[in-house]
Amino acid sequence: MDFETNDFQSFVSSRRSTRDFLSTPVSDEIIEEIIADGLTSPSWSNTRPVRVAVAKGDVRDRLSKEFLSRWEEIKGARDGIFGKIKAVLKRKGLPTSNWIITRPYHKDLVERTKNQGRDFFSHIDVDRDDKKARDESWARNYDFFGAPVELFIFTHKSLGKYSASDAGLFMQNLILSAHSKGLGTCPQGAVAVWEDAVRKEFDISKNYSLLCGICLGYPSGEKVNSFKANRPKPSEIILPKRH
Ligand SMILES: Cc1cc2nc3c(=O)[nH]c(=O)nc-3n(C[C@H](O)[C@H](O)[C@H](O)COP(=O)(O)O)c2cc1C
Repeated sequence: MDFETNDFQSFVSSRRSTRDFLSTPVSDEIIEEIIADGLTSPSWSNTRPVRVAVAKGDVRDRLSKEFLSRWEEIKGARDGIFGKIKAVLKRKGLPTSNWIITRPYHKDLVERTKNQGRDFFSHIDVDRDDKKARDESWARNYDFFGAPVELFIFTHKSLGKYSASDAGLFMQNLILSAHSKGLGTCPQGAVAVWEDAVRKEFDISKNYSLLCGICLGYPSGEKVNSFKANRPKPSEIILPKRH
């Protein structure tokens, strides 16, 4: 591990999203431990408006197969990854909790996402104009990047953004807990577009909706895992004073 456990800054900054995993299984004990660590987060009136569906083994494989086949269906439907998803959702009327992924980015945010795409594809030696290679890279989301476990995070609809905030705090503690054990993770908005498929596998109240997935497993040594996404400086997000 390339961090000092007694040094928070080096620990927290050494976490990076993992996008290629070994098939080594993750034990149920470890999954429970990291969920318990996730639950040390603060929560809106301690309501804990978050539920987790743990997909592993057959369930994980069925969901990956279903996602990959849906992805295959929409390939070529329209240009652009998100356009394709939108096309199939419209055509088939599939339920989703994640329409945001199909919409263009607001101008306030578009520069950072463009830079992210440029840096990421350059790191994995994919030409930004090579749509086939970009699609293949995106499709790896639907194999959960080879991770043996996918966690699907559901939030209670009634608290709106505060449920999402609770989920974010929970997820980050869980992700850091996994990191402290040598496990890799990647949050995945990509898997939130087909909520109906996840509902077929788990008993989930209609009061909850799917926020995103998190893949979990032991990182491989593949180059994609050494990608270091740009991190903004504090001054880039601290608001100026009026006077
Ligand atoms: C809610 C959420 C959804 C995300 N969805 C995806 C995704 O679908 N696929 C993916 O490869 N990365 C996804 N990411 C990972 C981000 O791209 C990544 O966190 C960001 O680029 C910063 O890089 P780092 O995590 O390595 O610091 C997601 C992150 C968050 C917080």
